[in-house]
Parts: sequence; C-alpha cells; structure tokens
Amino acid sequence: MGGRTFRIAPSILSANFARLGEEFAAVVAAGVDLIHFDVMDNHYVPNLTVGPLVCEAIRPLTKSVIDVHLMVRPVDRIVPDFARAGANIISFHPEASEHVDRTVELIHDSGCKAGLALNPATPLSCLEHVLHKLDLVLIMSVNPGFGGQQFIPHALEKLHDARVKIDEARREIMLEVDGGVNAGNIAAIARAGADTFVAGSAIFGSKDYARTNRQMREAAKSVA
Ligand code: DX5
Ligand code: ZN
Repeated sequence: MGGRTFRIAPSILSANFARLGEEFAAVVAAGVDLIHFDVMDNHYVPNLTVGPLVCEAIRPLTKSVIDVHLMVRPVDRIVPDFARAGANIISFHPEASEHVDRTVELIHDSGCKAGLALNPATPLSCLEHVLHKLDLVLIMSVNPGFGGQQFIPHALEKLHDARVKIDEARREIMLEVDGGVNAGNIAAIARAGADTFVAGSAIFGSKDYARTNRQMREAAKSVA
C-alpha cells in the first residue's frame, strides 16, 4: 500500500451556487487535488445540476484537474462539450451508455481521461473488457442523485475487490469513491483501497475547508 497517492476531490454539488467562483477559489486555496463536477439530468438521476457552460465559466479560475462525473443519459452527445469546456477527466455510468467501449474511446479522442462509475448495485464485472482502457474507476458509495447521503458500508468490500483488479491490470488507474465520505470514515475507505476521495458535504459543510482537507488527507495517509 505504501507510496499510494491520495487525492481529495470536493464535489461542487455541495458548494454555495450563488458564490460558485469564490467557492472554487476557496477549495483550490485549501489545497485539494481535483474538483469533482457532478452533472445530473433529471432523467438518469432524479436531480438537475449544471452543464458545460458552468464548467467553462469556472475553468479559468483554477489549474486544478476538473473531474466531471456525468449522471446523464445519453452520454455521448455531451462528452465533446465538456472536453471543450475544459474537463480533464470524464466519468460516466455504464447503464447510461448504449456502447460503453465507444464512449470510452470518445472521451479519449476528445482529449480527456476516462472513468467508469459503478452504482452500489452495479457489479464489478462491468469492468471486464474495458478496465485496460480506463484511467479511473469510480465506486459509488451512495445511490447517485444527491449530496449529503450516508456512506453504504458494502462499498468497502467492493473497493477492496476493485483494488485487486486494478493492481492486476498493472496500469495507472485511479480508484475513486463517491458519496458519504468524511474525516471519520476516510481511513477505513483508504484501507479498502481507494486513492481518490470525493467529498461534498464534508468539505463544503465545514467552516474551514483547508482544515477539513488536511484532516481527511492525514486520516487517509495514516493507513498507508
Ligand atoms: C452523488 C454525487 C456525489 C455527491 C457527494 O450523486 O455524485 O458526488 O455530491 O456528496 P457527499 O460527499 O455529500 O455525499
Ligand atoms: Zn459525483
């Protein structure tokens, strides 16, 4: 486990949308590693958030990696728009794409890294035949659609199994966890194998973003 790089990724879903630019600047100044950008369409998931225009608007505010999490169907139509808007990583859910391999290719051809996001009930077998092309595996530890939900404990076992698969694949693939992550459970989640931690309410709901970022990072590192 030693030497693993840990990344903290605040989810803008929990930011104050009336002050999005300032919120961005504040988490970047807090020393986070990536910005997690949740895109919901009120179709694939029962909530509606922001699109490429907002990504484009915040792009000049930070050099940080923008990690776009698409919870939309269809997927392919919107991928090039996010690439043009400055996304660095684009993840999608296999259930939302007609042709998973084609979508991965499209994301790469658009100049971005590609991730596959697995819902709590979506099996890891979905990674078969595509893992060798992925840059990121996102394990959902809540059902997608809302911030502030409780971490589903079964995700720990799934992260562990995903870590084994990724290590066997012998290529650089981030293992990201999304939903209900906080300073209290991040150590157990890191121990299960995650290296990239999305945190919405845990960061934006705290008074001091830098302090929360530091606490989370230290707790994760404590198991390495
Ligand atoms: C859920 C989103 C998550 C969520 C995380 O559909 O993909 O990124 O906003 O928020 P917390 O950390 O509050 O669970
Ligand atoms: Zn997300």
